[in-house]
Amino acid sequence: MAEKSKVLIIGGTGYIGKFIVEASAKAGHPTFALVGQSTVSDPVKGQLVESFKNLGVTLLIGDLYDHESLVKAIKQADVVILISVNVKGLIIIIIIIIIIIIVVVVVVGVGFGGCSAFISFSQRFFPSEFGNDVDRVHAVEPAKSAFELKAQIRRAVEAAGIPYTYVPCGCFAGYFLPTLAQPGVTAPPKDKVTVMGDGNAKAIFNKEDDIAAFTIKAVDDPRSLNKILYIRPPKNVYSFNELVALWEKKIGKTLEKIYLPEEQILKQIQESPIPINVILAVNHSIFVKGDGANFEIEESFGVEASELYPDVKYTTVEEYLENFV
Ligand SMILES: NC(=O)c1ccc[n+]([C@@H]2O[C@H](COP(=O)([O-])OP(=O)(O)OC[C@H]3O[C@@H](n4cnc5c(N)ncnc54)[C@H](OP(=O)(O)O)[C@@H]3O)[C@@H](O)[C@H]2O)c1
Repeated sequence: MAEKSKVLIIGGTGYIGKFIVEASAKAGHPTFALVGQSTVSDPVKGQLVESFKNLGVTLLIGDLYDHESLVKAIKQADVVILISVNVKGLIIIIIIIIIIIIVVVVVVGVGFGGCSAFISFSQRFFPSEFGNDVDRVHAVEPAKSAFELKAQIRRAVEAAGIPYTYVPCGCFAGYFLPTLAQPGVTAPPKDKVTVMGDGNAKAIFNKEDDIAAFTIKAVDDPRSLNKILYIRPPKNVYSFNELVALWEKKIGKTLEKIYLPEEQILKQIQESPIPINVILAVNHSIFVKGDGANFEIEESFGVEASELYPDVKYTTVEEYLENFV
Protein backbone atom coordinates (compact mmCIF):
# COMPACT_ATOMS: atom_id res chain seq x y z
CA MET A 1 0.00 0.00 0.00
CA ALA A 2 1.28 3.49 -0.86
CA GLU A 3 2.55 5.46 2.10
CA LYS A 4 0.19 8.19 3.26
CA SER A 5 1.33 11.78 2.93
CA LYS A 6 2.57 13.58 6.00
CA VAL A 7 0.08 16.35 6.71
CA LEU A 8 0.96 19.57 8.48
CA ILE A 9 -2.00 21.64 9.62
CA ILE A 10 -1.59 25.29 10.48
CA GLY A 11 -4.71 26.62 12.15
CA GLY A 12 -5.75 23.23 13.46
CA THR A 13 -7.14 24.79 16.63
CA GLY A 14 -9.72 26.77 14.64
CA TYR A 15 -13.38 25.90 14.12
CA ILE A 16 -12.98 23.70 11.03
CA GLY A 17 -9.27 23.05 11.61
CA LYS A 18 -9.81 20.72 14.57
CA PHE A 19 -11.98 18.43 12.42
CA ILE A 20 -9.27 18.34 9.75
CA VAL A 21 -6.60 17.47 12.29
CA GLU A 22 -8.71 14.64 13.64
CA ALA A 23 -9.67 13.35 10.18
CA SER A 24 -6.04 13.40 9.07
CA ALA A 25 -4.80 11.52 12.13
CA LYS A 26 -7.65 9.00 12.03
CA ALA A 27 -7.08 8.37 8.33
CA GLY A 28 -3.56 7.29 9.20
CA HIS A 29 -1.66 10.27 7.86
CA PRO A 30 1.33 11.20 9.97
CA THR A 31 -0.15 14.49 11.16
CA PHE A 32 1.59 17.63 12.39
CA ALA A 33 -0.03 20.75 13.84
CA LEU A 34 1.73 24.10 13.99
CA VAL A 35 0.41 25.93 17.04
CA GLY A 36 1.46 29.05 18.88
CA GLN A 37 2.89 28.84 22.41
CA SER A 38 0.02 31.02 23.66
CA THR A 39 -2.49 28.55 22.23
CA VAL A 40 -0.82 25.66 24.05
CA SER A 41 -1.01 27.63 27.31
CA ASP A 42 -4.62 28.71 26.76
CA PRO A 43 -6.96 26.93 29.23
CA VAL A 44 -9.52 26.03 26.54
CA LYS A 45 -7.42 25.63 23.39
CA GLY A 46 -4.73 23.90 25.45
CA GLN A 47 -7.17 21.04 26.06
CA LEU A 48 -7.80 20.76 22.34
CA VAL A 49 -4.05 20.63 21.78
CA GLU A 50 -3.84 17.83 24.38
CA SER A 51 -6.53 15.92 22.49
CA PHE A 52 -4.42 16.25 19.33
CA LYS A 53 -1.51 14.65 21.19
CA ASN A 54 -3.78 11.76 22.19
CA LEU A 55 -4.55 11.21 18.51
CA GLY A 56 -0.83 10.88 17.84
CA VAL A 57 -0.52 14.32 16.26
CA THR A 58 2.96 15.82 16.42
CA LEU A 59 2.86 19.36 17.78
CA LEU A 60 5.17 21.95 16.32
CA ILE A 61 5.39 25.24 18.16
CA GLY A 62 5.51 28.22 15.84
CA ASP A 63 3.68 30.88 13.96
CA LEU A 64 2.74 31.50 10.39
CA TYR A 65 4.61 34.78 10.45
CA ASP A 66 7.70 33.38 12.08
CA HIS A 67 9.70 32.34 9.03
CA GLU A 68 12.07 29.99 10.85
CA SER A 69 9.39 27.98 12.66
CA LEU A 70 7.23 27.88 9.54
CA VAL A 71 9.99 26.55 7.27
CA LYS A 72 11.04 24.02 9.90
CA ALA A 73 7.46 22.78 10.15
CA ILE A 74 6.84 22.65 6.42
CA LYS A 75 10.03 20.69 5.84
CA GLN A 76 8.67 17.86 7.98
CA ALA A 77 5.53 17.35 5.93
CA ASP A 78 4.35 16.44 2.50
CA VAL A 79 1.09 18.29 3.02
CA VAL A 80 0.58 21.51 4.91
CA ILE A 81 -2.81 22.78 5.96
CA LEU A 82 -2.91 26.40 7.00
CA ILE A 83 -5.79 28.30 8.54
CA SER A 84 -6.18 32.03 8.96
CA VAL A 85 -3.84 33.47 6.46
CA ASN A 86 -4.06 36.85 4.84
CA VAL A 87 -2.60 37.68 1.46
CA LYS A 88 0.76 38.49 3.02
CA GLY A 89 0.73 35.12 4.75
CA LEU A 90 -0.17 33.32 1.58
CA ILE A 91 2.61 34.99 -0.36
CA ILE A 92 5.05 34.00 2.38
CA ILE A 93 3.85 30.42 2.17
CA ILE A 94 4.07 30.28 -1.62
CA ILE A 95 7.59 31.71 -1.64
CA ILE A 96 8.68 29.27 1.03
CA ILE A 97 7.15 26.38 -0.83
CA ILE A 98 8.94 27.31 -4.00
CA ILE A 99 12.23 27.80 -2.16
CA ILE A 100 12.13 24.46 -0.42
CA ILE A 101 10.55 22.79 -3.44
CA ILE A 102 7.65 21.25 -1.68
CA VAL A 103 5.77 19.24 -4.19
CA VAL A 104 2.23 19.64 -2.94
CA VAL A 105 0.52 22.35 -0.92
CA VAL A 106 -3.10 22.45 0.17
CA VAL A 107 -4.63 25.63 1.54
CA VAL A 108 -7.98 25.30 3.20
CA GLY A 109 -9.46 28.67 4.00
CA VAL A 110 -8.02 32.15 3.93
CA GLY A 111 -8.11 34.35 6.89
CA PHE A 112 -7.99 38.05 6.95
CA GLY A 113 -11.01 39.74 8.39
CA GLY A 114 -12.71 36.45 9.04
CA CYS A 115 -11.14 34.23 6.41
CA SER A 116 -8.76 31.42 7.16
CA ALA A 117 -6.51 29.14 5.25
CA PHE A 118 -5.36 25.61 5.61
CA ILE A 119 -2.42 24.46 3.67
CA SER A 120 -1.69 20.88 3.09
CA PHE A 121 1.51 19.91 1.32
CA SER A 122 1.44 16.59 -0.30
CA GLN A 123 2.40 17.41 -3.81
CA ARG A 124 -0.39 19.88 -4.04
CA PHE A 125 -1.79 23.08 -2.65
CA PHE A 126 -5.38 23.30 -1.33
CA PRO A 127 -5.85 27.04 -1.15
CA SER A 128 -8.07 28.50 1.47
CA GLU A 129 -11.67 27.67 0.70
CA PHE A 130 -14.43 25.94 2.76
CA GLY A 131 -17.36 27.92 1.52
CA ASN A 132 -18.69 28.79 -1.92
CA ASP A 133 -16.71 28.42 -5.12
CA VAL A 134 -15.21 31.91 -5.09
CA ASP A 135 -14.91 32.02 -8.88
CA ARG A 136 -18.66 31.44 -9.22
CA VAL A 137 -20.28 33.76 -6.72
CA HIS A 138 -22.61 36.74 -7.18
CA ALA A 139 -21.98 38.37 -3.83
CA VAL A 140 -22.37 41.98 -2.77
CA GLU A 141 -20.03 43.87 -0.45
CA PRO A 142 -18.63 43.21 2.09
CA ALA A 143 -18.73 39.48 1.22
CA LYS A 144 -17.64 40.26 -2.34
CA SER A 145 -14.18 41.47 -1.24
CA ALA A 146 -13.69 38.51 1.08
CA PHE A 147 -14.46 36.08 -1.76
CA GLU A 148 -12.21 38.05 -4.11
CA LEU A 149 -9.37 37.63 -1.65
CA LYS A 150 -9.76 33.87 -1.83
CA ALA A 151 -9.94 34.09 -5.64
CA GLN A 152 -6.68 36.08 -5.64
CA ILE A 153 -5.10 33.29 -3.69
CA ARG A 154 -6.26 30.81 -6.33
CA ARG A 155 -4.67 32.98 -9.04
CA ALA A 156 -1.42 33.23 -7.06
CA VAL A 157 -1.28 29.47 -6.67
CA GLU A 158 -1.93 28.91 -10.37
CA ALA A 159 0.61 31.56 -11.41
CA ALA A 160 3.21 29.89 -9.22
CA GLY A 161 2.48 26.57 -10.92
CA ILE A 162 1.73 24.90 -7.62
CA PRO A 163 -0.46 21.80 -8.00
CA TYR A 164 -3.72 22.41 -6.18
CA THR A 165 -7.13 21.25 -5.04
CA TYR A 166 -9.75 23.82 -4.05
CA VAL A 167 -12.41 22.65 -1.61
CA PRO A 168 -15.71 24.53 -1.57
CA CYS A 169 -17.92 22.73 0.94
CA GLY A 170 -21.09 24.79 1.16
CA CYS A 171 -22.41 25.75 4.60
CA PHE A 172 -20.97 24.33 7.80
CA ALA A 173 -23.97 22.44 9.21
CA GLY A 174 -23.15 23.53 12.75
CA TYR A 175 -23.30 27.20 11.78
CA PHE A 176 -26.59 27.05 9.88
CA LEU A 177 -28.81 24.09 10.73
CA PRO A 178 -29.25 24.34 14.53
CA THR A 179 -31.03 27.69 14.04
CA LEU A 180 -32.14 27.31 10.41
CA ALA A 181 -29.94 30.38 9.80
CA GLN A 182 -32.25 32.60 11.86
CA PRO A 183 -30.45 35.60 13.36
CA GLY A 184 -30.21 36.03 17.13
CA VAL A 185 -31.60 32.65 18.19
CA THR A 186 -30.04 29.56 19.72
CA ALA A 187 -32.61 26.93 18.73
CA PRO A 188 -34.48 26.05 15.57
CA PRO A 189 -37.69 28.03 15.04
CA LYS A 190 -40.93 26.49 16.30
CA ASP A 191 -43.38 29.29 15.42
CA LYS A 192 -42.14 31.51 12.62
CA VAL A 193 -39.24 31.63 10.23
CA THR A 194 -37.68 34.36 8.12
CA VAL A 195 -36.92 33.37 4.53
CA MET A 196 -34.37 35.36 2.50
CA GLY A 197 -35.67 36.08 -0.99
CA ASP A 198 -38.20 33.61 -2.37
CA GLY A 199 -36.54 30.66 -0.61
CA ASN A 200 -36.09 28.69 -3.83
CA ALA A 201 -32.30 29.01 -4.30
CA LYS A 202 -30.45 25.79 -3.48
CA ALA A 203 -27.82 25.67 -0.75
CA ILE A 204 -25.53 22.93 0.56
CA PHE A 205 -25.15 21.95 4.20
CA ASN A 206 -22.40 19.59 5.35
CA LYS A 207 -21.44 18.34 8.78
CA GLU A 208 -17.95 19.49 9.73
CA ASP A 209 -16.43 16.05 10.26
CA ASP A 210 -17.70 14.98 6.81
CA ILE A 211 -16.09 18.07 5.27
CA ALA A 212 -12.85 17.09 6.97
CA ALA A 213 -13.13 13.45 5.90
CA PHE A 214 -13.70 14.36 2.24
CA THR A 215 -10.85 16.89 2.31
CA ILE A 216 -8.39 14.42 3.74
CA LYS A 217 -9.49 11.77 1.21
CA ALA A 218 -8.46 14.17 -1.56
CA VAL A 219 -4.95 14.74 -0.24
CA ASP A 220 -3.44 11.71 -1.98
CA ASP A 221 -5.97 11.35 -4.78
CA PRO A 222 -4.78 12.15 -8.32
CA ARG A 223 -8.41 12.60 -9.46
CA SER A 224 -8.71 15.79 -7.43
CA LEU A 225 -5.37 17.18 -8.56
CA ASN A 226 -5.71 20.66 -10.14
CA LYS A 227 -9.45 20.39 -9.67
CA ILE A 228 -12.15 21.92 -7.52
CA LEU A 229 -13.39 19.33 -5.06
CA TYR A 230 -17.03 20.24 -4.49
CA ILE A 231 -18.58 18.74 -1.38
CA ARG A 232 -22.11 18.60 -2.75
CA PRO A 233 -23.70 15.32 -1.63
CA PRO A 234 -27.13 15.03 -3.29
CA LYS A 235 -28.94 14.51 0.03
CA ASN A 236 -27.49 17.74 1.44
CA VAL A 237 -28.68 20.15 -1.26
CA TYR A 238 -31.81 22.01 -0.17
CA SER A 239 -33.61 25.20 -0.99
CA PHE A 240 -34.57 27.14 2.11
CA ASN A 241 -38.23 26.36 1.45
CA GLU A 242 -37.40 22.65 1.26
CA LEU A 243 -35.40 22.91 4.48
CA VAL A 244 -38.28 24.56 6.30
CA ALA A 245 -40.71 21.96 4.93
CA LEU A 246 -38.44 19.19 6.21
CA TRP A 247 -38.26 20.84 9.62
CA GLU A 248 -42.03 21.33 9.71
CA LYS A 249 -42.50 17.64 8.92
CA LYS A 250 -40.15 16.70 11.75
CA ILE A 251 -41.86 18.85 14.37
CA GLY A 252 -45.35 18.21 12.97
CA LYS A 253 -46.17 21.89 12.78
CA THR A 254 -46.51 24.55 10.08
CA LEU A 255 -44.45 27.70 10.68
CA GLU A 256 -45.41 31.23 9.81
CA LYS A 257 -43.12 32.38 6.97
CA ILE A 258 -41.85 35.91 6.65
CA TYR A 259 -40.34 36.48 3.23
CA LEU A 260 -37.62 39.16 3.02
CA PRO A 261 -37.42 40.59 -0.52
CA GLU A 262 -33.93 40.99 -1.95
CA GLU A 263 -34.13 44.81 -1.99
CA GLN A 264 -34.84 44.80 1.72
CA ILE A 265 -31.89 42.46 2.39
CA LEU A 266 -29.55 44.68 0.36
CA LYS A 267 -30.71 47.70 2.37
CA GLN A 268 -30.14 45.82 5.63
CA ILE A 269 -26.62 44.90 4.51
CA GLN A 270 -25.82 48.53 3.79
CA GLU A 271 -27.22 49.73 7.09
CA SER A 272 -25.81 47.05 9.40
CA PRO A 273 -22.52 47.28 11.30
CA ILE A 274 -19.66 44.77 11.03
CA PRO A 275 -19.95 41.77 11.40
CA ILE A 276 -23.73 41.68 10.84
CA ASN A 277 -23.31 43.11 7.34
CA VAL A 278 -20.75 40.40 6.50
CA ILE A 279 -23.04 37.62 7.71
CA LEU A 280 -26.01 39.08 5.84
CA ALA A 281 -23.99 39.48 2.64
CA VAL A 282 -22.70 35.89 2.85
CA ASN A 283 -26.25 34.65 3.48
CA HIS A 284 -27.51 36.73 0.55
CA SER A 285 -24.97 34.99 -1.70
CA ILE A 286 -26.00 31.58 -0.36
CA PHE A 287 -29.77 31.86 0.05
CA VAL A 288 -30.79 34.49 -2.49
CA LYS A 289 -28.25 34.02 -5.26
CA GLY A 290 -27.88 30.27 -4.69
CA ASP A 291 -24.12 30.53 -5.18
CA GLY A 292 -23.43 27.17 -3.57
CA ALA A 293 -25.25 25.12 -6.16
CA ASN A 294 -26.46 27.30 -9.04
CA PHE A 295 -24.10 25.74 -11.59
CA GLU A 296 -23.19 22.29 -12.87
CA ILE A 297 -19.89 20.73 -11.90
CA GLU A 298 -18.04 20.12 -15.14
CA GLU A 299 -15.29 17.57 -15.59
CA SER A 300 -12.97 20.23 -16.98
CA PHE A 301 -12.72 22.00 -13.62
CA GLY A 302 -14.34 19.97 -10.86
CA VAL A 303 -15.16 16.72 -9.14
CA GLU A 304 -17.81 15.95 -6.53
CA ALA A 305 -16.63 14.48 -3.25
CA SER A 306 -19.46 12.06 -2.46
CA GLU A 307 -19.15 10.59 -5.95
CA LEU A 308 -15.39 10.17 -5.61
CA TYR A 309 -15.59 8.82 -2.06
CA PRO A 310 -18.80 6.82 -1.64
CA ASP A 311 -17.22 5.10 1.35
CA VAL A 312 -17.57 8.30 3.38
CA LYS A 313 -20.93 7.77 5.07
CA TYR A 314 -21.86 11.40 5.39
CA THR A 315 -24.57 12.73 7.68
CA THR A 316 -27.57 13.92 5.69
CA VAL A 317 -29.41 17.14 6.50
CA GLU A 318 -32.43 15.05 7.44
CA GLU A 319 -30.37 13.03 9.95
CA TYR A 320 -28.73 16.18 11.28
CA LEU A 321 -32.03 17.96 11.95
CA GLU A 322 -33.30 14.93 13.89
CA ASN A 323 -31.00 16.03 16.75
CA PHE A 324 -33.00 19.22 17.25
CA VAL A 325 -36.56 17.88 17.23
N1 LIG B 1 -18.77 27.24 4.97
C1 LIG B 1 -19.05 27.87 6.09
O1 LIG B 1 -20.19 27.81 6.60
C2 LIG B 1 -17.96 28.65 6.77
C3 LIG B 1 -18.21 29.28 8.00
C4 LIG B 1 -17.16 29.95 8.62
C5 LIG B 1 -15.90 30.00 8.03
N2 LIG B 1 -15.71 29.39 6.82
C6 LIG B 1 -14.39 29.38 6.18
O2 LIG B 1 -13.63 28.33 6.76
C7 LIG B 1 -12.27 28.66 6.82
C8 LIG B 1 -11.76 28.45 8.26
O3 LIG B 1 -12.46 29.31 9.15
P1 LIG B 1 -12.55 29.02 10.72
O4 LIG B 1 -13.75 29.77 11.19
O5 LIG B 1 -12.45 27.56 10.96
O6 LIG B 1 -11.24 29.73 11.27
P2 LIG B 1 -10.88 30.07 12.80
O7 LIG B 1 -11.78 29.34 13.73
O8 LIG B 1 -10.80 31.54 12.91
O9 LIG B 1 -9.44 29.43 12.97
C9 LIG B 1 -8.29 30.14 12.69
C10 LIG B 1 -7.07 29.28 13.01
O10 LIG B 1 -5.89 29.90 12.49
C11 LIG B 1 -4.92 29.96 13.52
N3 LIG B 1 -4.04 31.11 13.31
C12 LIG B 1 -4.38 32.42 13.25
N4 LIG B 1 -3.27 33.18 13.05
C13 LIG B 1 -2.23 32.33 13.00
C14 LIG B 1 -0.83 32.51 12.84
N5 LIG B 1 -0.28 33.71 12.66
N6 LIG B 1 -0.04 31.40 12.83
C15 LIG B 1 -0.57 30.18 12.99
N7 LIG B 1 -1.89 29.93 13.14
C16 LIG B 1 -2.71 31.01 13.16
C17 LIG B 1 -5.75 30.08 14.79
O11 LIG B 1 -4.95 29.70 15.89
P3 LIG B 1 -5.42 29.99 17.40
O12 LIG B 1 -6.36 28.88 17.73
O13 LIG B 1 -4.16 29.94 18.14
O14 LIG B 1 -6.08 31.33 17.40
C18 LIG B 1 -6.86 29.06 14.49
O15 LIG B 1 -6.41 27.76 14.72
C19 LIG B 1 -12.18 30.09 6.30
O16 LIG B 1 -11.77 30.07 4.96
C20 LIG B 1 -13.59 30.63 6.40
O17 LIG B 1 -13.88 31.60 5.42
C21 LIG B 1 -16.70 28.72 6.21
